Amino acid sequence: MVDVILGLQWGDEGKGKIVDYFAPGYDIVARFQGGPNAGHTLYVEDKKVVLHQIPSGIFHQNTINLIGGGVVLDPVTLRKECALVESFGIDVKKNLYISQRTNIIVPTHRALDKASETSKGTDKIGSTLKGIGPAYMDKTGRNAIRVGDILDKSFITNYIKLRLKHQKLLDNFHFNEDISDWEDEFFEAIEFLRTLNIVNTEYYVNNQIKDGKKVLAEGAQGSMLDIDFGTFPFVTSSNTISAGVCTGLGIAPQKINEVMGVTKAYCTRVGSGPFPTELFDETGEELRKIGSEFGATTGRPRRCGWMDLVALQYACMINGVTKVIMTKADVLDSFKELNMCTSYIVNGTPTTEVPYQISKAKVEPVYEQFEGWNTDTTAIKDTAALPATMHSYVKYINEFVGAPVKYVSNGPGRDQIVEL
Ligand code: GDP
Ligand code: IMO
Ligand code: MG
Repeated sequence: MVDVILGLQWGDEGKGKIVDYFAPGYDIVARFQGGPNAGHTLYVEDKKVVLHQIPSGIFHQNTINLIGGGVVLDPVTLRKECALVESFGIDVKKNLYISQRTNIIVPTHRALDKASETSKGTDKIGSTLKGIGPAYMDKTGRNAIRVGDILDKSFITNYIKLRLKHQKLLDNFHFNEDISDWEDEFFEAIEFLRTLNIVNTEYYVNNQIKDGKKVLAEGAQGSMLDIDFGTFPFVTSSNTISAGVCTGLGIAPQKINEVMGVTKAYCTRVGSGPFPTELFDETGEELRKIGSEFGATTGRPRRCGWMDLVALQYACMINGVTKVIMTKADVLDSFKELNMCTSYIVNGTPTTEVPYQISKAKVEPVYEQFEGWNTDTTAIKDTAALPATMHSYVKYINEFVGAPVKYVSNGPGRDQIVEL
């Protein structure tokens, strides 16, 4: 049986914390897509940890953490992250498995990402510059090197071939930075990668499921950054939605049970692209300040705005969400009035649908206003103690998106979560 936790917005919904919270109930936690563009924050022994490549169940001794074939893997980031995780007494050689099919991010992918973004000028995507787009292009272009290939003698020859291909592209971009240091650390990291558990995950996962084991699939990024259904072209390069679980782990759709979608009680976005409810005023500034809205991977300030129910309903539909988890409700504690967007006016026409050409259309949000709870909720442990105004806010979301909010997260700590 497989349950899924994924983001319903533009990423950074708090997936890391939520996966860490639920992980003890699962035998395996598996990432199915994305790469080191992700930054998943959780707290271990009161210390803040940000994970980019390793699944967020790694701090639970009895849980196997799996990097699936749909992921793109930067060996350098992985090596550093393994050292961090081991400093907490976790044995990665025992608890971390990596699929043979996982595609490798090579140093020239990072260089290409940078060169491509620079060439786009003001139209840039706002990529995290971790090499994600170029790595997925080599996957679909059938050029990539996969983790299983590093065990093969032909690895170096294939690397050199790919490197030469990339060099031609870099020359076209007039990119002339010296990346030899990146290559040195890359090859050291490949040596390290060879010492980890490289497995055939599709057989492994399916055999575990057959034996009655429970799998939690952890999404990276968010549904509105999905390569097919997000705000294209301002998206990432993988399927972030529940469909990605099947292709990223090699499991059939019938095996998927709960799809738990994580949303903030408001909205944020980092990088470029459409964001209908973005606030450019002091309310936006306040959300950023109270919510500490700065990117976990790049440190960039996140753009902030009100909850967008049009986008949330769309995300719930595309993913088949069965339960919603609303995070960062406490960030709204001091607001007297709250807004939620319930429809758009797109080029002058009202609609409750996310438009196809959202990045080109003029989208104006239409708001419904709600009374704020205006009280400190961070210490609340049970649903009866949550303010009635928060219950009304949640009830409106349930009815609008057609999926129930089952948990409210009221602080970054592991224990700051209330089951409704
Ligand atoms: P992810 O990428 O979805 O895992 O989310 P990030 O880790 O990038 O960003 C979420 C941020 O919000 C992190 O700094 C978390 O520690 C923090 N966070 C998560 N849940 C809550 C919550 O309920 N309240 C508050 N105040 N912070 C939270
Ligand atoms: P987590 O898993 C928020 C954004 C980037 C950029 C676009 C493309 O922490 O939620 P890419 O590096 O993939 O080429 O960037 O997607 N982006 C994220 N935004 N959270 C993330 O991950 C993101 N991963 C990528 O800012 O706009
Ligand atoms: Mg993040």
